[in-house]
Amino acid sequence: MTAELLNGKEIAKDYRAGLAAGVEELKEKGITPNLTVVIAGNDGASLSYVRSKNRAAEKIGMASDIVQLDENISEQTLLDKIRALNNDDAVSGILVQVPLPEQISEEKVLETIAPHKDVDGFSPVNIGRMYTGQRTFIPCTPLGIMELLKHTGAVEGKDAAVIGRSQIVGQPVAKLLTDQNATVTLMHSRTRELTAKLADFDVIVSAAGAPGLIKAEHIKDGAIVIDVGNTMVDDKLQGDVDFDAAKEKAGWITPVPGGVGPMTITMVLNNTLLAAKWHNGME
Ligand code: GUN
Repeated sequence: MTAELLNGKEIAKDYRAGLAAGVEELKEKGITPNLTVVIAGNDGASLSYVRSKNRAAEKIGMASDIVQLDENISEQTLLDKIRALNNDDAVSGILVQVPLPEQISEEKVLETIAPHKDVDGFSPVNIGRMYTGQRTFIPCTPLGIMELLKHTGAVEGKDAAVIGRSQIVGQPVAKLLTDQNATVTLMHSRTRELTAKLADFDVIVSAAGAPGLIKAEHIKDGAIVIDVGNTMVDDKLQGDVDFDAAKEKAGWITPVPGGVGPMTITMVLNNTLLAAKWHNGME
């Protein structure tokens, strides 16, 4: 069969229109949601991500600031900056771009961001809240993937393979799919015969970061294929899936770029709007 395209760009556009309306409603009440993105250093790819988050926030009517710090900044100075943002009432959401320079402990940074402003959902408090089913910020890529999956119908009862066990993608995706009553197998770099096993699954979410890992022959006819891979190869972004062949076998498939990526940024905005609402006692 030929797959239906899960067009992240289009789905994100529609979703952002809804967020823009939510921002407008808050502004009428005198509240302007603000996303503040902190970056240490000049890494080109990171700066470009940060700028796109900033632009996306402004496009839907939010305020957004970029705090760019020297790559040699001390850990103490960065933590003090984060504490100042925690205490700044104008700031709804704080996102500290990772990776960080080596002198800075990511763990300490994530522990320092106030949980009610941690729109990435990376802080230990928010991860704990997610796993105990409390209200929290769900990490943005997993949340974006779940939103894409809504367009394919319910995942209830489906067999899902999640490839990659990272704290920010694989593990939370496995948890969220389980919450939606899918039966989940979490695969990773030590899984034996990984690609051969995929033929059994109705849903594949691949966050391996291994271009060309998944070929058409590995995919069950009509399966839903979500490609979270985003590896730069010769200046081109490559997913984990051999898209051109796989789209003839899958039922639904995300492209790279234009699949999961736009949804991640959209969910940063979603979480920032939620942060502003919750902080003001709404919802
Ligand atoms: N670096 C790459 N992706 C992300 C992300 O989603 N959040 C943060 N904070 N840093 C990143």
